[in-house]
Amino acid sequence: MQISFAAPKAAPSGGSWVVAAAEGGVLAPAALRADKASGGALSRALKFSRFTGKSGQFLEVAAPAGLAASRLLLVGLGKPESVDEKALEQIGAQITARLQALGDSAATFEIEIPKGKVKSGEIAAHLAFGARLRAYRFDKYRTKNLDEYEQRLVTLTIAVKDVAAAKKAYAGLAAVADGTLLARDLVNEPPNVLYPAEFARRAKTALIRLGVKVEVLGEAQMKKLGFGALLGVGQGSARESQLVVMQWNGAGQKGKKKQAAPVAFVGKGVCFDSGGLSLKPGNAMAGMKGDMAGAAAVTGTMMALATRKARVNAVGIIGLVENMPGPDAIRPDDVLKSLSGQTIEVLNTDAEGRLVLADALTYVQQRFKPRFIIDLATLTGAIVAALGFEHAGVFANDDRLAQRLTEAGLYTGERVWRLPLDPAYDKMIRSKIADVKNIGGANSGSITAAQFLKRFVEEGRPWAHLDIAGVAWQDGERKVMAPSWATGWGVRLLNRLVKEHYEA
Ligand code: BES
Ligand code: MN
Ligand code: ZN
Repeated sequence: MQISFAAPKAAPSGGSWVVAAAEGGVLAPAALRADKASGGALSRALKFSRFTGKSGQFLEVAAPAGLAASRLLLVGLGKPESVDEKALEQIGAQITARLQALGDSAATFEIEIPKGKVKSGEIAAHLAFGARLRAYRFDKYRTKNLDEYEQRLVTLTIAVKDVAAAKKAYAGLAAVADGTLLARDLVNEPPNVLYPAEFARRAKTALIRLGVKVEVLGEAQMKKLGFGALLGVGQGSARESQLVVMQWNGAGQKGKKKQAAPVAFVGKGVCFDSGGLSLKPGNAMAGMKGDMAGAAAVTGTMMALATRKARVNAVGIIGLVENMPGPDAIRPDDVLKSLSGQTIEVLNTDAEGRLVLADALTYVQQRFKPRFIIDLATLTGAIVAALGFEHAGVFANDDRLAQRLTEAGLYTGERVWRLPLDPAYDKMIRSKIADVKNIGGANSGSITAAQFLKRFVEEGRPWAHLDIAGVAWQDGERKVMAPSWATGWGVRLLNRLVKEHYEA
């Protein structure tokens, strides 16, 4: 989609002209202008409709007389005072969905919020951001009937008085959109295409040109270093396991100290999770190409930060493996020696994500001494049972970090809900023969998984674990901001967190 910002004209020269009304049916200035130019078509249509200006409502006038526009689309904003950045993104997405369903390829949005609290440049930028996220498709593997799926909004013009302010605000958001769409692409790719080495290649291709340092460790290097837990998960697969280390050093651009300790993001990158020898039943296995969504979110976040040249030092570490059964696969009952030195009794090979994260967490602390660590992982089915599809679970050893994540999530719409860490649960992962076992009991599975990870976090190191198994992808009804299976969850959240609190 081509997005541009331009000063309002008397009327657009083609495509849909999208204008707004607040709750109560109060037409915004552009809507009044459109009504006048069309000889009152809008106000006549209003009389015959149930449109009241509530958010999510639309009123459409096709081929309006007196205008070059293909249609007028009136969008309801709801109460002006409740239209914040997130709401604007949703409105941008809703309009885009509507236009694509109608089959329009060009549109001009001219949306003002009478007595609203968001500045016009920001309004324009957030509308564009929502439109961009909604216009995303993943159809590279379709070879026919494309027109059935392919109604696309190709050119979007946002009419706004302060073009310079809009462009400036959108530059930062476009970077976040780039990162989010990269994360979606990675999650949507099938696992025969996107195996660990291919993921690592794509991370390099996407990030090196932006100035991110990207290193890839293969199995030989990891073996030498002692990544016994991560390598254990990958040993049943024909595909080589990889660890990708991404560094963006953006601090110090304004005379600040360059060596500031980085913030660190760690991602679970199980490119396919068959369960291993503890094989998943067929219906639970489909969709497990998305078990690398944590790694995708970390990669997308690095892209967002680098693209907008965030003034922060950030490191992203992703552990990429494929969890497969086979003659070389780890067995239930095996004991692995992790990079931290702690031994792990594997009692279920399907609890593999925590094994991958254990070594990635140890590595990031040993090498970078980060300011904090946030890990993201599609870790447990239990988090879906607990929180469904609306919140990710967050576990943290640091109240401030948990609070900041919660607030960032309310701002972006990627909400998180805190669950407990507590020594009382830690008992559940005691092993009879090793330091820890990789499963707890039948209950509180997300908490015991988090307790397991905590064993690999140094005392005093601020850390938060996001269990994103319920939010990384969606079946059935699609969320307004995310039209594909993969949502790209986490990129907006982490970008917001960094922007609010950790930039010099
Ligand atoms: N990748 C799965 C978790 C998952 C399940 C993600 C459903 C998204 C949707 C994870 O590796 C897993 O298999 N977890 C097990 C843990 C159990 C064996 C302790 C689970 O949740 O059943
Ligand atoms: Mn598993
Ligand atoms: Zn998994």
